[in-house]
Amino acid sequence: MAAIDVALRGLTDRALLELTRAGDRSAIEAWRTGYLGRSGALSLHMRSIGQLPSEERPAAGQAANAAKDTLEAAFAARQRELEEQALDQRLESEHIDVTLPGRPIHTGGLHPITHTLRRILEIFRDMGFQVAEGPEVELDWYNFQALNIPPEHPARDMWDTFYVKPPSILLRTHTSPMQARIMERTRPPVRVVVPGRCYRYEGQDASHEWMFYQVEGLAVDKGLTMADLKGVLVAFARRIFWPEIQTRFRCDYFPFVEPGVEMSVQCPLCRGEGCRVCKTTGWIELLGAGMVHPRVLRNVGYDPDVVNGFAFGMGAERIAMVKHGVDDIRSFYGNDLRFLQQFT
Ligand code: PHE
Repeated sequence: MAAIDVALRGLTDRALLELTRAGDRSAIEAWRTGYLGRSGALSLHMRSIGQLPSEERPAAGQAANAAKDTLEAAFAARQRELEEQALDQRLESEHIDVTLPGRPIHTGGLHPITHTLRRILEIFRDMGFQVAEGPEVELDWYNFQALNIPPEHPARDMWDTFYVKPPSILLRTHTSPMQARIMERTRPPVRVVVPGRCYRYEGQDASHEWMFYQVEGLAVDKGLTMADLKGVLVAFARRIFWPEIQTRFRCDYFPFVEPGVEMSVQCPLCRGEGCRVCKTTGWIELLGAGMVHPRVLRNVGYDPDVVNGFAFGMGAERIAMVKHGVDDIRSFYGNDLRFLQQFT
């Protein structure tokens, strides 16, 4: 074997061995410069071919070119190998166990009374009622006197009152004061529903809270009758409960309506069979209502000989209790998540 071939073989073997030892990117780059670079070992070898006798040059040149191909291929293979190793390492260190269950995301939800209020308002909105709101700290005038309940009148016993500044400023005991406030600033026709908090100075039990929500309704126009009142309230009951629900109207007394009624519905829980919630009567009283008293109309400057109206007031909690079978009103404001989360 010619000396030049021995030299090339030695160079190639050395290069391949060194390449297997080059363990990272900078090492193989240094290797490439050392062998394949412009003044690398293989380039020097090629230059030395020029000194050979001319008949030996072609074979030596071919051998050198073949060695160059070998080294370049070996370099590419080694480079790929190192990249794969690096990737494997990364996959190993960033390993994620996709079989682990995810962490639950806790989302909030609407309070059951908020749900109920929205549903009630939606139904009345569909019947053409507007929505209005008013103050919780109220004047005795609107809460009582404008509603035909003079000071010292025994009817005041129906509403146990928290006074902010006796005798004239109080926490409203119902949403009815908004009847007067709305009529004062509106010319008939009026069709409005008023949701809002009310307060009563009462002992608490399964069906009484000192704070609760009411939705008041008021319609004033020419020629309204009890039939309009019944039509609106029966349509409401059919939508908030179910279409075939039975309703019952009986006489009741409220100083600001004449005649006054209460509306009951067949107990939605036992469907009239009799259960704990309806106290085995099969009926649940839902709301008070009636034709607006002429004196109330006159108090706000309306002429009862020209227009008349009907009004109603319902407790939102009562409706939510009946709808969801809740038997204690205190559950709504006890802030027990086990209770509240059932509704989200
Ligand atoms: N405001 C009455 C109450 O709280 C309910 C009611 C409203 C009755 C409107 C008649 C008309 O008991």
